[in-house]
Amino acid sequence: MAERRAIRYAHVAGWGKYVPAKVVTNEDLSRTVDTNDEWIVSRTGIRERRIAASLKETTATMSFAAAKGALEMAGVAPEELDLIIIATVTPEYSFPATACLVQDMLGAENAGAFDLSAGCSGFMYGLAMGSHSIASGVYNHVLVIGAETLSRIVNWHDRETCVLFGDGAGAVVLEGGDAPGGVLSTLIRADGSGGELLILPAGGSRQPPTLDTVATGQHYIKMNGREVFRFATRVMDKAARQVVADAGLTLEDVDLFIPHQANMRIIQAAARALEMPMEKFFVNLDKYGNTSGASIPIALCEAVECGRIKPGDHVVMVGFGAGLTWAAAVIQWGVPKPPVPAWRRTVDGLRYVAAGVRSRFRRVERRLGAMMFGSPEPRAIEQTAPWAEPTDNHPASTGDEQKLT
Ligand code: ACO
Repeated sequence: MAERRAIRYAHVAGWGKYVPAKVVTNEDLSRTVDTNDEWIVSRTGIRERRIAASLKETTATMSFAAAKGALEMAGVAPEELDLIIIATVTPEYSFPATACLVQDMLGAENAGAFDLSAGCSGFMYGLAMGSHSIASGVYNHVLVIGAETLSRIVNWHDRETCVLFGDGAGAVVLEGGDAPGGVLSTLIRADGSGGELLILPAGGSRQPPTLDTVATGQHYIKMNGREVFRFATRVMDKAARQVVADAGLTLEDVDLFIPHQANMRIIQAAARALEMPMEKFFVNLDKYGNTSGASIPIALCEAVECGRIKPGDHVVMVGFGAGLTWAAAVIQWGVPKPPVPAWRRTVDGLRYVAAGVRSRFRRVERRLGAMMFGSPEPRAIEQTAPWAEPTDNHPASTGDEQKLT
């Protein structure tokens, strides 16, 4: 078990983002579905989005790219990471966790890794988990990533959803420190009674994938847009007010709000409810659309890059999404570390090459081990659980199924 240290502050030591190169404009979409630029811009504020056009761009590869940038900026080596959390609704697989794949790519030999499913609030949930595990004194370096390949679960013939979403990844490295600052307060909430308002109906254990679920498009995002809209405008300002009060601040102390980038009208409604000018809200959804768990970390990176966040600033981030979930946090921005020298970047590059070689070596080692030492005596396993009640998808076992030997 990790050694317990005194209570510490979780500072954002590094940040990084990745967005695919392929741009899909509203004009492009109007050629495939019955929509137009005027409708999309006036109802959402979105003008274009990035799409992972190559199958080489996945949630894991985009996470890896964002994580490399964040680690480099933080001056933290992958071996120093204690925990990797990836917030995503589009993991590479149901299991293993995408965070484990990224752990392997980074060569983060001393880290635990797991995925977190909290819709568009996922990154904020991850930030809360990461900062609390640092504040408790158990961990010192936590990598929190929000990453999505939503283009692979969107029905590109459904105009009500396909115009909204995009792909990308953002990451932060949280680092423990004794100096006050960093993540000052967090809030996470859920209301599962609204789960069906934003759902991927098939592919899980409730509705395993079948020819029928695919034929009826149950493996695509289903959303009741109006209800999600009403929910978002109800919770955003309350969550922001709560988290600011919990940090011992007032709304006047806030330098920048970074809301989940879903819809310009939702952000405007939150600004009105908070009685804050729109200049205090960072918006980049016009370029990327709604990237779910990736939206807030991508926006955070861009806000820093373009000088909207300075050392000492108080930044409030608020997310909402599937679950239903919502979450918020206040960060007091720290002084950035000096840029890493070129030689360090070269060393980091070699480190990732070494991680790839080590990973391949371990796979070969495992295969050789299995060949040399064999595996435990196989036992007959029934293909279908005989105690399962019959459903359309899974008829009850007759006992005559082929036995695995
Ligand atoms: N182009 C043209 N017309 C369209 C389009 C489109 N792309 N999509 C819908 N319409 C039509 C509808 O069919 C409807 O037509 P009708 O009046 O003839 O029936 C009309 O436009 C109005 O539709 P509404 O659904 O009422 O439009 P609304 O103003 O509510 O905007 C939207 C829809 C943009 C989806 C909005 O409700 C919204 O942003 N909701 C929140 C979504 C969100 O934030 N999700 C975040 C979570 S994502 C996650 O967690 C993975």
